[in-house]
Amino acid sequence: MQTVTTIESLRASVDELRQTGTIALVPTMGALHEGHLALVRAAKDSAAHVVVSIFVNPAQFGPNEDFATYPRRLAADAALLEAEGVALLWAPPVSEVYPPGFSTGVSVSGVSGGLCGAARQGHFDGVATVVAKLFNQVLPDMALFGQKDWQQLAVIRRMARDLDLSRPHADAIIGIPTVREADGLALSSRNAYLSPEDRARAMALPRAMQACISVIEAGGAVAAALVALETALLEGGFASVDYAVLADAETLEPLDAKPQAPARLLVAARIGGTRLIDNMGVNP
Ligand code: PAJ
Repeated sequence: MQTVTTIESLRASVDELRQTGTIALVPTMGALHEGHLALVRAAKDSAAHVVVSIFVNPAQFGPNEDFATYPRRLAADAALLEAEGVALLWAPPVSEVYPPGFSTGVSVSGVSGGLCGAARQGHFDGVATVVAKLFNQVLPDMALFGQKDWQQLAVIRRMARDLDLSRPHADAIIGIPTVREADGLALSSRNAYLSPEDRARAMALPRAMQACISVIEAGGAVAAALVALETALLEGGFASVDYAVLADAETLEPLDAKPQAPARLLVAARIGGTRLIDNMGVNP
């Protein structure tokens, strides 16, 4: 595996890889876990070469968020990626991605607005901008993202459609199912912030979500099921619930009755100072 840190060397390496087959891009912020590695393995199955980016993107963190303390473990991450057969690691410094004078942004309205977009002002502009740049830097045939960040995936697909991207084409943006711990908690780099006690309590999140989905799929009242979900989280040790919403799976428009089309239950809640997000499918 080769590691590159400048756009010039990235371009040279990518051009060479392209001579011998297709390229799949897996964008990450590092601190890699089995969730990220599931994307890498799926990428390996679908393309000749896998390029992984590791870039903790300052533009997607709010002023009171964890940009400074976000875990950075480049050497350990590189060893994991090497073992997975990744061809190229793209790990630029901030100055390479946002040089002096940088002043362009990508903003996807609508699907970015609610849920995490409402709670984290500017977050999805930062994500859309950096992902558009990563796409243009690598020009991959396909790109893989986790369903764990369902709204992010919807924003990126919308951006690719709206901007007529061809590398990757919107149809080549692939969503990979969420990888979970044995107790159901979705893997996240931020789980490392949890104390052992809060980590044990955090399994209330997937449990309460599953219970809520069972009620909704059986035809129970949606509003009451969402209130019961919030109550279960607060009683289970969560400090607050940012949102607990049933929404159309693609547009993320909130639904207040049993869905007629594929839907998603999306939740963000805080435990011990850490904000956790999760989402699961709800069948019509
Ligand atoms: P990061 O949080 O590092 O996640 C990188 C990718 O891994 C994302 O597509 C995310 O959805 C996926 N992922 C995280 N946890 C997962 C899990 N438990 N199961 C499956 N996939 C999982 O998301 C970002 O970085 C950034 O916003 C980025 C897209 C790189 C732009 O900066």
